Amino acid sequence: MHPRRAFRSIVLVLFAMLAACQLAGCATSIQADDAARVAGKTYVVTGASSGFGRGIALKLGSLRANVVLAARRTELLQEVAAQVTAAGGTALVVTTDVAKPEEMRRLADSAVARFGRVDVWINNAGVGAIGRFEDIPVEDHSRLVDVNLKGVIYGSHAALRLFRAQGHGALINMGSVDSEVPHAYQASYSATKAGVLSLGRVLNEELRLGGHRAISVSTVLPWAADTPFWEHAATYSGSTPRFAAMDDPQIVVDAVVWVSLHPREELPVGGKAAAAYTSHRIFSNLTERITGNIAHRYQMDSASPRPSTPGALHQPMQSGRGVEGGVRERMRQEDAVRGRP
Ligand SMILES: NC(=O)c1ccc[n+]([C@@H]2O[C@H](COP(=O)([O-])OP(=O)(O)OC[C@H]3O[C@@H](n4cnc5c(N)ncnc54)[C@H](OP(=O)(O)O)[C@@H]3O)[C@@H](O)[C@H]2O)c1
Repeated sequence: MHPRRAFRSIVLVLFAMLAACQLAGCATSIQADDAARVAGKTYVVTGASSGFGRGIALKLGSLRANVVLAARRTELLQEVAAQVTAAGGTALVVTTDVAKPEEMRRLADSAVARFGRVDVWINNAGVGAIGRFEDIPVEDHSRLVDVNLKGVIYGSHAALRLFRAQGHGALINMGSVDSEVPHAYQASYSATKAGVLSLGRVLNEELRLGGHRAISVSTVLPWAADTPFWEHAATYSGSTPRFAAMDDPQIVVDAVVWVSLHPREELPVGGKAAAAYTSHRIFSNLTERITGNIAHRYQMDSASPRPSTPGALHQPMQSGRGVEGGVRERMRQEDAVRGRP
């Protein structure tokens, strides 16, 4: 197809998806009967100290679920546990590094010892690494795979063993729009998120072949969202991390809670993720070029300087403690200083 015609088609698909999503609210808002089904269920949430995981835990607490909170920053998990309990839920804190298989097994054992079973397991923990592939140290690429892909494999393994033994359960793995559409300057991140999506597809096939109808695997694919992710990302681009048209984290929080009750093999969250996902399936090369150009503009051309940092990849950071990351506000301030619209 001629590039100009392909580009026009892509814009049309994008527009149609956005409009459809706007009208349908992308169908992932939580209704009253959904809320009632969450009460009393046991959820394991990794990466519950900040960002989506913290938001998911707080939402589950307000819906009176039992929430098992895992991450490395114990004091933040305790803070979240207090809020979950105050909202009417029950919480258990299990300090966990998801890259360590023995700690993931301990997480599963602790959840069962406290609540007797796990109904939903959410592998949400993850970290980014931004920069030209060869500028990112190889030990950072390696650790990123340990956390984002191996951590999800360890969590999925622990969860599916439990689910098979108890006969039911919903596994939710946090992918990204990068799972479908690889992003320039996030090479190993995109590779791990593609791996997470592929893992979920295979696990669903194995469950179907084994006749396990009450066990499901969903992969959630958000667009860029304003969480501490961008502050926590290892950064070797020379610039502060930023991205186009960031979403509010709450739409991802709601989508994860919704999909725990309405499993979907793949769930792009919101109109932009749905449009990019669909567009990549029809026009893969063109979508990758457009995404690459956007990433180049945001990560390389228009950002403020930032010294290289491994971020929260190897050790947790003190900063970046809320659900929101304040990135949209920072970008507005940076643009105002440099006179950009
Ligand atoms: N924000 C986005 O634009 C976006 C878009 C698509 C997908 N995602 C994905 O969403 C997930 C959550 O990210 P977020 O946006 O909520 O950012 P975030 O605020 O940085 O949350 C990451 C969470 O993972 C935990 N974590 C990191 N390394 C860990 C390790 N080794 N062991 C245990 N926990 C670890 C962090 O806690 P500790 O530091 O306390 O361990 C934190 O709770 C990630 O998988 C990310 O890839 C994010």
